[in-house]
Formats: sequence, C-alpha cells, structure tokens
Amino acid sequence: MADDTLVIDPWGSAQSTDYDRIITQFGLTPMEGLTLPQPSKLHRRGIVFAHREVDQVMEAHRTGNAFGVLTGLMPSGQMHLGHSMVVEQAKWFQDLGGDVTIAVADLESQATRGVSLQKGREVALAEYIAHYAALGLDPEKTNVYFQSTRPVVQRLGFQLGKRTNLNEFEAIYGFSGETNLAHVQAPLVQVGDILHPQLDEHGGLRPIVVPVGVDQDPHLRLTRGLASKTNWFNIKPSSSRGLLVSLSVHDENAEAFGQLPNGRVDRQKVSDVFDRVVDVATRLGFSDIVSSPKQGHVHLPSATQRDTHGLRLALLGLERLMGGMGLLAPSSTYHHFAVGMTGDKMSSSQPKTTLFLRDDLATVEKKIKRAFSGGQATVEEHRRLGGNPDVDVAYQYMMYFFEEDDAYLAELNASFRSGALLAGEMKQHCIDAASAWMNELHERRDETEHLVNDFLAEDSR
Ligand code: TRP
Repeated sequence: MADDTLVIDPWGSAQSTDYDRIITQFGLTPMEGLTLPQPSKLHRRGIVFAHREVDQVMEAHRTGNAFGVLTGLMPSGQMHLGHSMVVEQAKWFQDLGGDVTIAVADLESQATRGVSLQKGREVALAEYIAHYAALGLDPEKTNVYFQSTRPVVQRLGFQLGKRTNLNEFEAIYGFSGETNLAHVQAPLVQVGDILHPQLDEHGGLRPIVVPVGVDQDPHLRLTRGLASKTNWFNIKPSSSRGLLVSLSVHDENAEAFGQLPNGRVDRQKVSDVFDRVVDVATRLGFSDIVSSPKQGHVHLPSATQRDTHGLRLALLGLERLMGGMGLLAPSSTYHHFAVGMTGDKMSSSQPKTTLFLRDDLATVEKKIKRAFSGGQATVEEHRRLGGNPDVDVAYQYMMYFFEEDDAYLAELNASFRSGALLAGEMKQHCIDAASAWMNELHERRDETEHLVNDFLAEDSR
C-alpha cells in the first residue's frame, strides 16, 4: 500500500500530473460547481482545476467584504511562462477587489539554492517584480516584502512550529534523517508568509487565498493544519440540526477559559465565555441560540452550512479580543502545469523546456518550431489519422498562455484532431500568437519599469 501513496515534494524535479488522484488523496475540491464572476481563461479551460475553501473568498467578494491574495516567488533564475500563471490569477483576484501580498522567498532561495540575500533582492526586483508589473498587477494594491526582513513572518513560523513535529514533516514532505534542516525551516517560514497578512498590522482578519501549482500543496496542508490547531473555538454540524460551537481548550487559552491550574474550573469565567459566544451569534442575527456551558457548546439550530464562514470569522475576532491569534486557515487554488516544450517538465534550468519572459522573438520562434508535436509522422498519416492537441505543445501553449478567444481555440482543436490542420500550421499559429503576446509584454515592461519600487511594502524599500 505504501507505494500507492503519493508524496509531493515541493523541491523535487518529479511532478505528478495525476490530478484526479491528487484531488482524492489530498482532499481538494474540484472547481466544477463554483460559478465565478468574469472567469479568466485559466478558469474557463479547467486549468485552475481545484481548490480548498475558495468559496470563503468568493463569499467575501460577493458580500463586499475584504479578502486578500498571498503568493511567493523564489528569486532564482529567470522568470518563465509557468511563473506567469500565478500572476494572472493574483491579478484576477485583485481585479475583483482583493489586496495582493507577495513574499520574496529570499531565505528559502538562499537555503535551498544558494542565492545570497543581496542577489535574491536584485533578481526579485529586476526579473520578477518587473514582470509582475508588466503583467498588469496594480502597484497601489500590491505589497512586496522579503522573508528575511519581515520579522513577524519568521516569528509566526517559529511560534507555530510548536504545534507540529518531525513525524508530521515526514508524512507531509517525505523527510528523513538526512534531510537538511533548512528544508525543515523553509516550510515554517512559508507558513508565516501565508498567515501573516491577516494579522492586525498587515490588513487584519480576512480570508486569504493562495493560488499555487499542486507542488506547493504540502505547504498549504501544513499551514491549514497549524492555523486550525491554534483556534479557540470549533464549529461543527450538530447531529440534530444546525451548528454547534464548542471551546477548544489548550495551553494558550486555559486561563482565559477558566481552567484553573489545580484542575478545577472557574464557572463564572466559563459562563462569561459562553455569554460572549452568544453575543457573537446574536450580532450575526441569530435569535434561536441555545447555550449549554455544562455540555460544552452553544447550539444554533437554525444555522446552515452556509453560515459557517461568517460565524468562523466572528469567532476568530472574539478569539483575538480574548488574546488568541485568531488565525483563519488559508484558502487555495490549484492549477495544472503546462507541459515543457520538449514534452518533459518545464524547468528554468533547462531553457529548451520553456519560454523565458525575456526571450527575443527569434528564440521564441526557434523553440516553438522545435517543440514536441502532437502531429503524425507524415502529412499523409496526419490527414488520415488526425493529430492529438492534448500533447501538442503549440496548441497547449496557446490554450494556457497566448490565445484569449475560446471559440477560435476550439476551432484549432477540432481541425487539428481531424487532420485538417497540420502540425507545422499549428506551430505557425502559436508563433504568431506568442510573438504578439511577447511583444506586448516587452512593451508594457518598458512602460512599467519605473513602477517596480512602488510595489515594495514600506518595510522593504
Ligand atoms: N516555496 C515557493 C516556491 O518554491 C515560494 C514561496 C515562498 C511561496 N512563500 C510562499 C509560494 C508563499 C506561495 C505562498 O516557489
């Protein structure tokens, strides 16, 4: 059985594309069933294929409440097309009203790739943020910071480290005795990255979504688990009907919850806590509230699953007032990886597998001409048997990156599959679309170059 379990290694070169299995094994929710406002091409084409609780972000958007996006980048090497997918999604959330926070993972880059902090900073600005600007992120609503210079990020990671252990790291990341400790610290810093935007001094309690490729899901599982473990209040469906709120007693809140060191209970304190929970529910508009401190819960018989998000936020707010961290588990979305141009994995260290955002048009053309083709070996065979757009790099890159028009894309797909459109012709379409896209990007990069510093958060200038 052990062989059957998939372990995702965020630093490894292997990449599982068995997305159905990933969904079931890791408990992701498929995107189908969510109706998104102004879906981007990545949504319309099923490229963003799964999520964890992104509904709480969409709910905030729908009700006019604040929400944020957090993403991070490793400042090493050149930015390539694959990296642009996260930016496109961050921009989509930003256009819906979300604020964007970007972590420059300079500590992680130093630890795992040997990039100095100074070099990391230069690369982040000149290569990554310059392109984020060109891809349309709004400097007014984006905050870029460095892991190495934002103490709260590291502090959070350290504090939450208390709630996990090496066994859990082994299970999540496949770590063993030989694992370098930098690889143990990097995920904890990333936990700090993901959770800190909801701290009061960084925008306050609100849903935060992290758009990632599935390779980053281990970090999200870890972060969500750790955030939940700190929570002071639990919400669960009642076996009869409605929702139950109960207290989750641990070291940090034992005193506030009236648990005396001698093992006895301060009933007055407990009763006060329950009154505050009732108060929260009342302010949310519930009138049917059954408080049973003896049974250890507050029952809201008329509450439905849909009320969970609002209730959870309100209880986290109460937790903060009472001295807790009040951390909301982050939401996430997952995208498919575009295939590498050679048919293997896209990788910065292998220039032939991808297009870098600084590639000139001659290089773009050359790489596409040499790209893996889904056509048949000869024109005759292609006409007779048809091609396979699912593995055709030229088609795939139009679908992932360069072609906005769904109808036109469907036409290309059908005529390639039928054999009417030849592999060389598909490549030419891709070269045309890629050249236009790259030209526009390069123009915009020149136009927005002067804005790069405006993306930096105050503590990072
Ligand atoms: N580990 C990420 C990578 O390998 C970079 C990163 C750091 C990140 N912090 C993050 C990504 C927070 C998403 C969210 O690219």
